[in-house]
Amino acid sequence: MNLNAGKGQKLLINGGRRLEGRVKIHSAKNAILPILAATLLTSSTSVIEDCPRFSDVLSSVDIIKSLGGSAEFDGDNLVINTENVDNFRIPHNKTREMRSSVIFLGSLLARCGQARLGLPGGCEIGSRPIDLHLKAFKQMGVEIADRHDEIVCRATNLKNSDIHLNFPSVGATENVMLLAAGSNIKVRLTNPAKEPEIVDLQAFLNKAGAHIEGAGTNEILIQGTKRMRAVEHRSIPDRIVAATYLCAGAITGGDVTVSDVIPSDLQAILEVLRETGCEIDVRGDSVRLSAPRRLNSVDYICTMPHPGFPTDAQALMMSVLSVAHGASIFAENMFDNRYKHAEELTHMGADITLDGRLAVVRGLCSGVDGGGLGRLSGTRLEGRDLRGTAALIVAALNAQGVSEVYGLEHLYRGYIGLAEGLNSLGADIC
Ligand code: UD1
Repeated sequence: MNLNAGKGQKLLINGGRRLEGRVKIHSAKNAILPILAATLLTSSTSVIEDCPRFSDVLSSVDIIKSLGGSAEFDGDNLVINTENVDNFRIPHNKTREMRSSVIFLGSLLARCGQARLGLPGGCEIGSRPIDLHLKAFKQMGVEIADRHDEIVCRATNLKNSDIHLNFPSVGATENVMLLAAGSNIKVRLTNPAKEPEIVDLQAFLNKAGAHIEGAGTNEILIQGTKRMRAVEHRSIPDRIVAATYLCAGAITGGDVTVSDVIPSDLQAILEVLRETGCEIDVRGDSVRLSAPRRLNSVDYICTMPHPGFPTDAQALMMSVLSVAHGASIFAENMFDNRYKHAEELTHMGADITLDGRLAVVRGLCSGVDGGGLGRLSGTRLEGRDLRGTAALIVAALNAQGVSEVYGLEHLYRGYIGLAEGLNSLGADIC
């Protein structure tokens, strides 16, 4: 798969079909990316089982190769050998392509004692500084210099540290874990991110030989080691991909089951879907959503660090609530420019007013008894970031007529086989 796959291509979505059935959820991009960085700590061969070929994964593979490692798919498994890693410079074109390349910094510092990185890129969803990463590194004994458009880091004097993050940044938490896990130091990290992907990273690092406890809580204790061993790992299912299928079920008045998921990781999303009137049935590792004839609005959805409502599901829920009965208010607290999908939704007839971090969505379903689901209108749509593009696809499933969705290069960063999965539930996408 080419890294530019999807650029200029479109999906044609013939909306208005009720989705019904069951779909399996693949591993999470946000769990796999830091684990790919963690393979640099092992000096041997790691296997990521059932690793989806997201374009962000392929970018990480390119980074690992450029650092001197090898990474190839063997069927669905990604096999990574990092024995010969000796380069500590992450190529500029890669950092521009994928913001998560910043996550290689901690591993490279532990592995090579130094690291260089061009200023990061990725989804255009507001300013995304890395000050928290760098502050934590400094506290751990890393020297940092900012040269033109490159950050130069040297792990001259790594030491045991007590680090407090002023904000529970996912990336900063992962970088601290990676640097500490691969060094002979002890670190106590307070106010870390508690996302499930952090717990998955802890699982990988512990299998490799580190001693980490507390991921998912308010405090993580890390005892690192220079002697990491080979690991075979299958990452956790993607909770945002699961949310995408559930939202597709809700917006089409459907009955959709996602399987192979961790339902407790979906709690905040399921709570909001329940408020819309959807029936949610959790059984083992499956969640079934049965949509009502008419969706209710939700008073207030405010994005928060985990276990709050995830910013990555905000766009999806906005699509759903644009056809509900009544007004819903969103507050986007995590990123400052994450409503690009809203303008596209208004092109479909959605009634959305933006005011800074707030969005008011007046659902299209009006009348006393509502008369069923509101309907958007199919049109040409341009996805501008990963989750926003998925949200437009979800909206198009509800729309009257055909929608053309562009911006697929964003979608492929974190979804594999979404159109096929939706078609297996009865959608008409080509
Ligand atoms: C990760 C996820 C992304 C998700 C986000 C929040 C990956 C690959 N990406 O991104 O899908 O939307 O968590 O759940 O896992 N911030 C600073 N300074 C820093 C670091 C962050 O100000 O040094 C700010 C960011 O600008 C942003 C907020 O903190 O406004 C959250 O960022 P962070 O939790 O770090 O998200 P990412 O790791 O970038």
